[in-house]
Amino acid sequence: MSGGTDRLDVDALLSDGAVRTVVCCGSGGVGKTTTAAALGLRAAALGRQAVVITVDPARRLAQSMGLSELDNTPRPVELPGSFAAPGGSLHAMMLDMKRTFDEIVEAHAAPERAREILANPFYRSLSSSFTGTQEYMAMEKLGQLREDGDWDLIIVDTPPSRSALDFLDAPERLGRFLDGRLIRVLGAPARTGAFRLLGAGVGMLTGMLSKIVGAQALKDVQSFVASFDAVFGGFQERAERTYRRLQDPGTAFLVVAVPESDAVREAAYFVERLAADSMPLAGMVMNRTHRTPVDGLSAEQAMAACTELERQGGHPLAAAALRLHARAAGLRDREAELRGRLSAAHPGVPVAEVPARTRDVHDLAALREVGDALGGGPLTV
Ligand SMILES: Nc1ncnc2c1ncn2[C@@H]1O[C@H](COP(=O)(O)OP(=O)(O)OP(=O)(O)O)[C@@H](O)[C@H]1O
Ligand SMILES: [Mg+2]
Repeated sequence: MSGGTDRLDVDALLSDGAVRTVVCCGSGGVGKTTTAAALGLRAAALGRQAVVITVDPARRLAQSMGLSELDNTPRPVELPGSFAAPGGSLHAMMLDMKRTFDEIVEAHAAPERAREILANPFYRSLSSSFTGTQEYMAMEKLGQLREDGDWDLIIVDTPPSRSALDFLDAPERLGRFLDGRLIRVLGAPARTGAFRLLGAGVGMLTGMLSKIVGAQALKDVQSFVASFDAVFGGFQERAERTYRRLQDPGTAFLVVAVPESDAVREAAYFVERLAADSMPLAGMVMNRTHRTPVDGLSAEQAMAACTELERQGGHPLAAAALRLHARAAGLRDREAELRGRLSAAHPGVPVAEVPARTRDVHDLAALREVGDALGGGPLTV
């Protein structure tokens, strides 16, 4: 670790009985899913009963954890004997966003009403495509698993967000949309009270809209709003409860980043946003970092030595090795500078580092090595 940054003690975090939920967030492609899965495996090796909620894992990673379908139920991950400590276990699931949405409807509406809602074409497109639903549903599933109480530790992967805001805004945005004026007005003809109140204005508006979006689509929205009304109160309440639960000290956020300037900028923004929302940040994971076997030799020194060696007609292999080192040291130093900037802007945020591997992480052995890097090295279980 470069000077001035505290090391995040991942093992202490995963072993802390008071920590019930770890949320891995960060911008797209930085390693959120990999980190979440590796943390789950590490937690099992530390003797905890862990469950990982993954969002869209790469197919091979999912397979390595025994996940073959989106079924929204945590499945036990079969671990070789040396992977879990006595009492430790790992479950994993792939989040099925639409299924989670359906489950909420089923939990809050009478069976007949629930069937009506689930069959509504507007509901179907809303539940599978509305921006923010995926983020919201990950949180919803987290709420459900916390209520089930079967786990010591729930590790939540989050969807790739175009902007860091999406993730925290999702519950509120979805709530606002469903409670919004437009959808209420559109739904008004189906609700006699409001219809009478708003009278002809609504008739004109809906008439115009039905020309634009089509009469059938408008009918779908209207009947959706009429039947969703029953569910809505519960929906909003759950969103608020889950949001508050994220703020409690039993939750630990980890911001995952890679040492590249855009990603570091987004990570810094994430750290600020979590603080603004009073969300408990445990630290950062700096993924895909580069090291050199010889720390003391700078890129310039290596390049100078290479040039001198070539001038003297030294061995070409030695010159090639020096050139390689110069390139790697350049990368290492640029990364160190970025990390230095980040820790200067956010002093006191501890960081765990995971070296870049030569291959993707898609089996348990590789996940365990990522876990070893996150924690304090290999565990003997
Ligand atoms: N330390 C690492 N070394 C090498 N490859 C890695 C490392 N960490 C992650 N990867 C690979 O990088 C790719 C992206 O990782 P991952 O899917 O975990 O990112 P993500 O943040 O979840 O992405 P998305 O935002 O799309 O969900 C995967 O192919 C993964 O195997
Ligand atoms: Mg992912």
